[in-house]
Amino acid sequence: MCGIVGYIGPDEAWTTIVEGLKRLEYRGYDSAGIAAIDSQGTLRCVRRKGKLNVLLNAVGGDWVPGKIGIGHTRWATHGRPSDENAHPHCIDDIALVHNGIIENAAELRDMLLAQGQRFTSETDTEVIAHLIALSKGDSLEERVRKAIPQLRGAYSIAVISSQSPDRLVVAKQASPLVIGVKDGVGLIASDIPALLDQTQTFIFLEDGDIAVIKQSGINITDINGKAINRPSKTIEWSPTMAEKGGYKHFMHKELHEQPRAMADSIRGRVRADGTVHIPEEILHKCASSSRIVVCACGSSWHAGLVARLAFEDLADIATEVELASELRYRKALLDNRSVVIAISQSGETADTIAAVKLAKERGATTIAIVNVMESSLARLCDHVLYTQAGPEIGVASTKALTTQMAVLILMAIAAGQYKQVLSETSAQHIIAQMLEIPRHLESILEREEELKSIANELKSAQSALFIGRSYGYPAALEGALKLKEISYIHAEGYAGGELKHGPIALVEPRVPIVAIATEGPTYDKLLANIAEVKAREGRVYAIGPENEPRLAHEAHRLFTIARVHPVLSPLLTTAALQIIAYHVADQLGADVDQPRNLAKSVTVE
Ligand code: M6R
Repeated sequence: MCGIVGYIGPDEAWTTIVEGLKRLEYRGYDSAGIAAIDSQGTLRCVRRKGKLNVLLNAVGGDWVPGKIGIGHTRWATHGRPSDENAHPHCIDDIALVHNGIIENAAELRDMLLAQGQRFTSETDTEVIAHLIALSKGDSLEERVRKAIPQLRGAYSIAVISSQSPDRLVVAKQASPLVIGVKDGVGLIASDIPALLDQTQTFIFLEDGDIAVIKQSGINITDINGKAINRPSKTIEWSPTMAEKGGYKHFMHKELHEQPRAMADSIRGRVRADGTVHIPEEILHKCASSSRIVVCACGSSWHAGLVARLAFEDLADIATEVELASELRYRKALLDNRSVVIAISQSGETADTIAAVKLAKERGATTIAIVNVMESSLARLCDHVLYTQAGPEIGVASTKALTTQMAVLILMAIAAGQYKQVLSETSAQHIIAQMLEIPRHLESILEREEELKSIANELKSAQSALFIGRSYGYPAALEGALKLKEISYIHAEGYAGGELKHGPIALVEPRVPIVAIATEGPTYDKLLANIAEVKAREGRVYAIGPENEPRLAHEAHRLFTIARVHPVLSPLLTTAALQIIAYHVADQLGADVDQPRNLAKSVTVE
């Protein structure tokens, strides 16, 4: 939530900052702003409520000049979206941008008011700007160092001062911040994609770090001023990966990248002899654990539901799936025999990070399934397995989710082999089919028009029900989430068996039912659920295996997927549902990549 960019170098700062903000808008789009210091040492700031485009239009070509500057795109926490609440916040010689939440902002505000300070916004951020502005005389980094101990909460901040226009000062606590490494230029941002057109080498700050970035170099210290060495790392993401590449939306591009992302995520882990490569230490921990607890939020939690089924079916390991936001506040009975698997695209989700910290305190082994290299979660967990989805910019998770599912299924296969509860023949059969998944995803995309025409029928609905059983259930939940988050059509996902316990009351001709039929023991049961819906004049849109006349007969519309082992079916059904949701939203003219009220990386509670 909220994106930060900063630049100091030989060029006009705003050019790099605007480019960076465009690539960070998925972190929030309630307002945008830039501050810069010109060659006369004057600090200027422009900021506007609304998306970056509003600011660009307001400014025209008349940008704040200067070779040092900071920019911000906001997801509102304290204070409604408005010009006044937009960052940067400028007090005296200071301009400051912030990502995070200051929990004691109200107390600090009262203290500052009592000292005679005046506030012009409702934000928690303005208190930080006041605290830094108040301590005059010292270097900018010293002023930041004095202010920080007074703050409670999460923050990454970037500060500039007209009194020291040769440096950017940044500080990080529980919100992400990276430094881009480039000769003669200082670069900072919330996230890697913001700076990919400038550099592929990054330094990842840790909590408590304060960094001074000058054109001549980077100096990182702790709160006491003690020097810290943080190594730089090169990221194998290219700048074009974070661009739309001719697609109307990032989400559409990312849907089309799914076969490649899946191939990359699977192939690196399957050896030439057809066995799965997952580090033995991870397998040993999983196999000897009392239970696996998977925790995540949103779509990543749906990947966790697939993981539970896969670990139980293929590896005989008891597995629970927890919403990270619930787990972190529960008396979770975790100990050193528990394995906690945290799933996250961004690796920055605040609740998931907090749940992992709790698990670590209780002695559990922690494993991250993460897409973004060197993200907070990747660094926090004892082990990390990266998905290879590449940058995902659209707020709706697509390729990140299906590649999470793939990595978790591979883990379950490997754990089953390690425990010798999954026969070699079964393992080889599933792995061989898994290697075909990218090709099946290609053929789903080749039939996009079919999905588009289903979307055309769904788009007039006020409300929709998604049902599935077994491996179809996580897909049903995901189909409903995807539809509601980008098209704003109310949708609910249910386990098919639950229909009779309440939701069937909603069935009527105007409420489409999307049924995800997965082969296996519950297949006939789902067909029975479909019949029950039809008997009540429900219109059923089914996603299910090809060459299945019974399903074709029951459904009003059927989109077929390749016949694969049930454990692999969510990789295909989910992709089809994501494409349907995309086209519903696009046909309704919704803002697909930046749905209202959402941000891609939920870095606050
Ligand atoms: O980065 P994470 O995977 O931790 O994010 C979790 C959720 O915020 C995310 O999946 C969210 O639900 C998406 N908007 C779903 O499309």
